[in-house]
Order: sequence, then C-alpha cells, then structure tokens
Amino acid sequence: MKKDLISSKDFTKDELIELFSLAKRLKKEGYNEVMRGKTLALVFEKPSLRTRVTFSVAMFQSGGSVVYLAPADIQLGKRESVADVGRNLSRWVDFVAARTFAHSTVMELAENASIPVINALSDLEHPCQAYGDFLTIEEKLGRVEGITLTFIGDGNNVANSLLLTAAILGANFRIASPAGYEINGKFLMEAQNIAKNTGAKIELFNDPFEAVKGTDVIYTDVWASMGQEAEAEKRKKVFSKFQVNRKLVEASDKDVIVMHCLPAHRGEEITSDILDASYSVVLDEAENRLHIQKAIMHYLG
Ligand code: CP
Ligand code: NVA
Repeated sequence: MKKDLISSKDFTKDELIELFSLAKRLKKEGYNEVMRGKTLALVFEKPSLRTRVTFSVAMFQSGGSVVYLAPADIQLGKRESVADVGRNLSRWVDFVAARTFAHSTVMELAENASIPVINALSDLEHPCQAYGDFLTIEEKLGRVEGITLTFIGDGNNVANSLLLTAAILGANFRIASPAGYEINGKFLMEAQNIAKNTGAKIELFNDPFEAVKGTDVIYTDVWASMGQEAEAEKRKKVFSKFQVNRKLVEASDKDVIVMHCLPAHRGEEITSDILDASYSVVLDEAENRLHIQKAIMHYLG
C-alpha cells in the first residue's frame, strides 16, 4: 500500500531514525539516479522559496523531473475538485508535494491519489520542516532524544509539527505563547499520548524567559503565517514580548542553538544579531530540507 506524509505523526520513531540515516547518506553522496524517469508534481496554493527549490533540486540531483503548478494554474477545488486533481495527477506523475491552506485539502488529495502525497505545508502542519529540523539538531547536538527544544511565539503549523516530532523522538518540547495563541489542544493531546511511551516532556509557558531556562534549542517563526496577513499589525502588538533577542538567549543560561524555519521577519520575531549569530543554524536547516526531502521521496517511492 502506498504511504503518504501528511502529518508529522505518519512516521514512527524507527522510521524517523532510518529516514535520518538515509538523509545523511544522501547528503554525502550528493547525486544519484534513484529517481530516473520519475516525476514530482508541486501543487502550491501559497508562495515558497525553500520548499519549492529544495523539492525541485532533490529531484534533479536524483535524476528525476518536476512539474510546478502555481496557485493560479489549478485553482484547487474551484476549477476542478481536489479529488479529481488527485486522481488525474496519479496517472502522470509519481509523487505529489502539496502546499495548501486547509489541511483537509492535502488530506483529500492523498485519499484520492494512488501515488504518495507529501504535505509541503498546510495551515496545520509542516512535517518536512520538522523532520529536517530534527536532522539538523542531531547533527549539531549529536542526539535528539532527551534534548529540549523551546518554541517561542505562535502555536502554528511549524510548532504543531515540531511538537509531534519531538514527542515521537523522545525530545522535550516547550512552547511560550501569548494568551489566545497557544498550541492547538488536539495536537497537544496527541503529543502527550505519544510522549507516554517515549518519555518526552511537554511544557507550556506564557513567559518566554521562564521557558528558555536550561534549553538546548530556541526556535521561533513568524508571528503571522501565510493566510493571516490581515492580522499582521494586531499580532505585532500581541507578540511584542515574544521576540528572540540577546536578552532572551542569555536567559537560557546555556550554550543554545537558535533555529527558525524561515522566512524571517528581522526585527520582529527575531533580531538580526541573533539570526546571524554563530550559534544560529537557520541556513543548515534550510540546506537539510534538500537532504531530508530526498530521503522522504526515496522512502515513500
Ligand atoms: N521554511 C519554508 O518552508 O520556507 P518556504 O515557505 O520558503 O518554502
Ligand atoms: N508558519 C509559517 C511557516 C512558513 C514556512 C507560515 O505558515 O507562513
């Protein structure tokens, strides 16, 4: 039966460990011919730099091809139903990576496609980001189990996927968010259930300074995600105390690494000095998207 990657919980701990070692091998090898004759369709409802380029380069470096379908090209669910798009694509291509607004859209594509469908970001999750980020953590800290990642800011799609991945891998996850912008309760419950078996500790904070004490990783993301542009000004006020800056990094009282999925809004959720600091690994994260997505396609294909 075909396997999709829609949620970060779609891979078990053992599968993730295998995925990371495959990604590390592919990172060393660079080029191969595993995808010769295969095609990936990128179905995007939202803009992208990293995801579009890394999926495309991942295919090119593995001998395959890519068809990019921009938001206006397909008009998912308007020109044609999501299910029909999934059924048609299955007759021509070997993989679909979809970036959608509603999470249900990428789920519906997967349910109706006979080929693997990969979530390239939805309003609820960004599993490729979280997997690539934990690969980066493993490279930088030498392990993932038992480390503590502290997410500062909005309980958004990236936070949801990091939370689930941390729980699966047995990494501790903390999040500090302003009231009303906390992480989704359903994801929290799911992660807590998973954590019972893996020993991951999950903690919620309202004070970012409390949250970062003794952490290994400080992670942040934009305050207004794609689709929330109209709320951006309001959110700037709500999140003003949740900026990752020198004072906050120093409050960790530890040698931390700083992470951000990018794109960053310098001077908002993170200051430029921290984004560009020697302990910021944001470009390693961006690079690892290439290697992890190669591994994901190899695995699902
Ligand atoms: N981090 C990430 O997914 O970046 P893009 O939105 O540029 O693809
Ligand atoms: N939370 C951000 C992540 C971008 C990669 C967004 O959804 O816009």
